[in-house]
Amino acid sequence: MTISDADLIERAADAASRSYSPYSRFRVGAAIVTDDGDIITGANIENAAFGASVCAETNAITTAAASGVRRIDTVGVVCLDGDPCTPCGNCRQVMREFGVARVVMRGRNGAIRTMTLDQLLPASFGPEALEPEARET
Ligand code: THU
Repeated sequence: MTISDADLIERAADAASRSYSPYSRFRVGAAIVTDDGDIITGANIENAAFGASVCAETNAITTAAASGVRRIDTVGVVCLDGDPCTPCGNCRQVMREFGVARVVMRGRNGAIRTMTLDQLLPASFGPEALEPEARET
C-alpha cells in the first residue's frame, strides 16, 4: 500500500508537533514510507549544546535505518514555523545515502512543493563512490 504525498505530509506535520526545539522555536517534522508501507517519523530534537541537536529528517531516516531500512523513495518534511522548508545540507547528504528520490515539503504558508534529491543535491557524493569497482586499486 502506498501513501499519498498529502497523507505523508500530514504525518510529518504531526511529528513536527512533537518537536523539541526550545532554542530555535522552529518546529520541523519528517515522515518516510518504507517498502513495506510502514511510516516512520522524526522531529528536530535540540540540545543546550547546540551541536548535539538533530534535524527532523535525519532523525526519521536514521530511525528507519536502525530498524533495517536501506532504501527510501520519498521524504515528507513540514516546518510549522517558517518558510522555506527545504532540508539542510547535512540532511540532503543523509538522504543521499539511502537513495531518496523525492522530497515533499510544506512550510508555514501551507503550499506543498516537491523537488528531486538531484535538484537539491546536484553532483553529489554517494555510497557507490566507495564501492571497490569504482576505485582504481
Ligand atoms: N532543522 C531541521 O530539523 N531540518 C532541516 O532540514 C533544517 C533545520 C531544525 C534544526 C533546528 O532544530 C531548527 O530546525 C532550526 O535550525
